[in-house]
Amino acid sequence: MEVITVANNKGGVGKTMQCYQLICHLANKGYKVLVLDLDSQANLSSTLGIQIQRTLIPEWLIGDVELADVLVPAEGKGKYLKNITVIPSSRHLANLSKLLIMSEAEVRKEAGRKERLLRLRIEAAREHFDYVVIDTPPMLGDELIMSLVASTRILIPTQAQDYSIDGLEELMDTFEIIKETENPGLEFSIIPSMVNARRKIEKQRMEELAQMFDITPAVRNLVQMQESISGQRPVCVMGKKSKGRQDYEALWSSLNL
Ligand SMILES: Nc1ncnc2c1ncn2[C@@H]1O[C@H](COP(=O)(O)OP(=O)(O)O)[C@@H](O)[C@H]1O
Ligand SMILES: [Mg+2]
Repeated sequence: MEVITVANNKGGVGKTMQCYQLICHLANKGYKVLVLDLDSQANLSSTLGIQIQRTLIPEWLIGDVELADVLVPAEGKGKYLKNITVIPSSRHLANLSKLLIMSEAEVRKEAGRKERLLRLRIEAAREHFDYVVIDTPPMLGDELIMSLVASTRILIPTQAQDYSIDGLEELMDTFEIIKETENPGLEFSIIPSMVNARRKIEKQRMEELAQMFDITPAVRNLVQMQESISGQRPVCVMGKKSKGRQDYEALWSSLNL
């Protein structure tokens, strides 16, 4: 079972888009995919057809409810959806950090440290799923740290802009610490996201980024991608000429996914 976190401490860089396309791509290939939406805005949950009043993710993490109690099948049209199971989010997830502090003693007894809780809980999914894909909120909080500890790899969508590249350093520092302390096998990939290569400044930033990191093929900024989300139709089921599908196919094959 591979656990893949999509993360960037900056908002609006295409994390949820990347998750959605990856989940559907894997499900369409026949893999069983477990989706964990750790963003309290719940955009990924609703794109997968699920809206719930109150998420039980905090209760699941501290051990008050079982994995089976938080699973919801994805809904909508498309055969691939039968391979997708979701642990959906809602605004209530914002209470997670508070609940973790209140349950500190139990958490320490069970997991040693709260950072390890998700890794512990996800073990129960191992027999049933090929992949776990985690969407994270735009901040370096408990949700993101737990995900890094629990994951085999982290995908980092990045826009070719100054602020994005600056924010990346903070995330990479966190990555290094987690790799050294909790998760030596953790790997990362930097994915240029929403790229408009006709803009000179973006091209320049992209070249700078490529000098700092080993970057993957880019995903372009395309109106079609927004339509994919609003119409709940992933690029993997679009026609072969679709630019979005071409970009993502090149990306997934470069990542062996
Ligand atoms: N490749 C793309 N081309 C065009 N629009 C995109 C692309 N990727 C994401 N978007 C749009 O940009 C906005 C932010 O993307 P989103 O995935 O929600 O970012 P994040 O999860 O990092 O906040 C959304 O409206 C989304 O539809
Ligand atoms: Mg998002």
